[in-house]
Amino acid sequence: METSESIKPDNVQTKSMSDRGLGSVQRVEAQPGRLIVHAERGSFGLLQLSSTMLRVVLCGPDATWPDGTIAIAIQDVSERSRQQPEPAVVDEIDSVHADFGVIRARIDRATCGISLHHCELGTKLENLELRRLNDGGYSAVIDAKPTTRFYGLGEKPGELNKRYDAYTMWNSDVYAPHVPEMEALYVSIPFVIPFDEGKATGLFLDNPGRSRFDFRSRTPNYEITADTGGFDLYVLFGSTVKDVVVQYTELTGRMPLPPKWALGYHQSRYSYETQEEVLALAEAFRTKQIPLDAIYLDIHYMDGYRVFTFDSGRFPDPKAMIAQLAEMGVKVVPIVDPGVKQDAEYAVYRDGVAKDVFCKSLEGDLFIGEVWPGKSAFPDFTDDTAKAWWADQHAFYVDLGIQGIWNDMNEPAVFNDIKTMEPHVMHRNNGKPKTHRELHNLYGLLMSKATYEGLQRKLAGERPFVLTRAGYAGIQRYAAVWTGDNRSFWEHMSMAIPMVLNMGLSGIAFSGPDVGGFAHHTTPELLVRWTQMGAFFPFFRNHSAIGTLRQEPWSFGPETESIVATYIRLRYEFMPYLYSLFRESTITGLPVMRPLVMEYPDDPATYDLADQFLLGSDVLVAPICKPGETCRKVYLPQGEWVNYWTKEVVEGGRSILVDAPLDILPLFVRAGAILPLAVMDGDARHGESIAMDVYLGNTGSTDRRRFVLYEDDGHSFHYTEGDFVERQLGIDRDPSGVTVSARLLNGNPKFAANSLQVRLHRADGTMETAQVSDVEFQVTF
Ligand code: GLC
Repeated sequence: METSESIKPDNVQTKSMSDRGLGSVQRVEAQPGRLIVHAERGSFGLLQLSSTMLRVVLCGPDATWPDGTIAIAIQDVSERSRQQPEPAVVDEIDSVHADFGVIRARIDRATCGISLHHCELGTKLENLELRRLNDGGYSAVIDAKPTTRFYGLGEKPGELNKRYDAYTMWNSDVYAPHVPEMEALYVSIPFVIPFDEGKATGLFLDNPGRSRFDFRSRTPNYEITADTGGFDLYVLFGSTVKDVVVQYTELTGRMPLPPKWALGYHQSRYSYETQEEVLALAEAFRTKQIPLDAIYLDIHYMDGYRVFTFDSGRFPDPKAMIAQLAEMGVKVVPIVDPGVKQDAEYAVYRDGVAKDVFCKSLEGDLFIGEVWPGKSAFPDFTDDTAKAWWADQHAFYVDLGIQGIWNDMNEPAVFNDIKTMEPHVMHRNNGKPKTHRELHNLYGLLMSKATYEGLQRKLAGERPFVLTRAGYAGIQRYAAVWTGDNRSFWEHMSMAIPMVLNMGLSGIAFSGPDVGGFAHHTTPELLVRWTQMGAFFPFFRNHSAIGTLRQEPWSFGPETESIVATYIRLRYEFMPYLYSLFRESTITGLPVMRPLVMEYPDDPATYDLADQFLLGSDVLVAPICKPGETCRKVYLPQGEWVNYWTKEVVEGGRSILVDAPLDILPLFVRAGAILPLAVMDGDARHGESIAMDVYLGNTGSTDRRRFVLYEDDGHSFHYTEGDFVERQLGIDRDPSGVTVSARLLNGNPKFAANSLQVRLHRADGTMETAQVSDVEFQVTF
């Protein structure tokens, strides 16, 4: 524990400002798609990728361009710029202008400050000045206005808007980490969305070493620093936040469609320790008719924490257990950490040593670090051979009937002073060796990639599910992310909202916190409120730490159980809507859970709003994040909103006070919305029949709406070959009545739900229904 001594004057360091800019422009070269600027102290390039993407790259001392990392999903990104036309260059006395079509660049001759302007979208990047730091790193200082807000940055604590904060990108296992001042957590996404006057741009620094985004020290300007490697900054000219996220996920990739079971309710604990306990747990869910899709096995399932083993005493017949659970519709997700126990009698370790897949020093010594199993070796996932070796190990789990894996401790976490692998460990990096210091933030992503690919290869057409703690930009292509070791504190529950919203703005659409809180002890009220909120987060798992109070839904008696169960069921009721949003995200990269600013960029009241959020664009969720609170202020943007529980139509563009006794989560539906919901039958999950709820407002603002409903078998890859159906649900309103319709857009009608009940909610609180069984229909009320 620190004391006041930690702020003794001698201990507080002031930042050295002795870094140097590049000096003045000496010479410029125009090439297809690029402008290369040679300055007094270095050269940099502007590389155009498209009409909305440009890369600012500082050449290394040997005049080489930094390599793009695996984060970049665009094939041959360097080649791409060569296919663009050569920029037209105009020399002026104090500046050089380069015209990349709609993107115009101006380089200040004296300072090399780069200003970029998109003349169609009106978005700008003002005066980016590159500097080389004395310790070998690089930085860019960029002009901003005091009113500029900053979103994104992946998994960070604190507010939605990061103005006046500073964050370090260095994947870190920090226990008890969710406090606002924590600069580095498990995942590093060096991507920020500067947002001003309703306009957004995106900046992605592709550097997996340590970097830092500082929005406070040079106010109103900001600074992006990289300790090592190259300076490789992608500038994305959106216009809206949505445009920027679409472009960022075009650059770094989008999530593959998860199996539907991964979207259900998951139950975890560190640890369910025996086969009987796991079976009894699943049984309890079934008896109580609480839907459940997955049970997690934490480290106690293993033999002495050796990955790819089961402890034969605690789990005498894992295959039979998994089969029995499968009968109940429950999947098993075991934890897999990267540390492989150093044990000459353990087959995985022996094989790894024999195949030379573990990380080593330059001199050739194995890097051995302490984790759960004691001394352990760590696979070098930067090397394709080692990656394939790790992927192959997953045959062990798949043969037992497992389809999902939970990757933990993959920052990598090591129980030593620096909490991770030694920085001088060498990674083979497929023939381009680099130190761990240079590649640290890639370790978790590469592990999850290997895991995903290993599962996919073995699963014979079933969709794998990977959950990870650590990651880097692009992690969404391989895994969902949970936000690590939070605590059962109300503050951590509220902080999960901006954290997961910003993850969604950083390409990670599938994420969520440990519901109920991991460390410390939950309370009945906190469990209820957190489950209500979690039911509307993309990833919905209840997990708790060893030694804490139990937090299964029934742990606090019938009243708590009944509310918790109601909200778990509500999650399943929303499944058709949610699944359609997931599908949308796989195509556009847009998050499932959205901050209001994403949908209402012209409404300043939404800019800092993060105690409520949207699921898609039509459902507004306003959780109760304080004990004893039974009402709260909810901001409703312009338009009409329908209270989900009372069906009252409320005029937006203002805040209202909403009643929220313990069993009520304030929930609003945008008037005019069409919500496809599952018709629930007991604990039946992923039901066959769908209800189409249509919410009418009072005014004509709801005259015409559309929603694309996506359906498929929910578990295989057959949808990639056309086995899915996409229908456009519509509502059209004119003085003669309201027409509700479904029109086939794509795919095979055979995948449409058997029946669909249209439920029209009128503004006066009445409801009319119609049953339809045709895939395409039109009903007029
Ligand atoms: C780490 C994980 C946590 C897990 C524990 C034991 O703390 O973050 O979720 O339960 O390790 O494996």
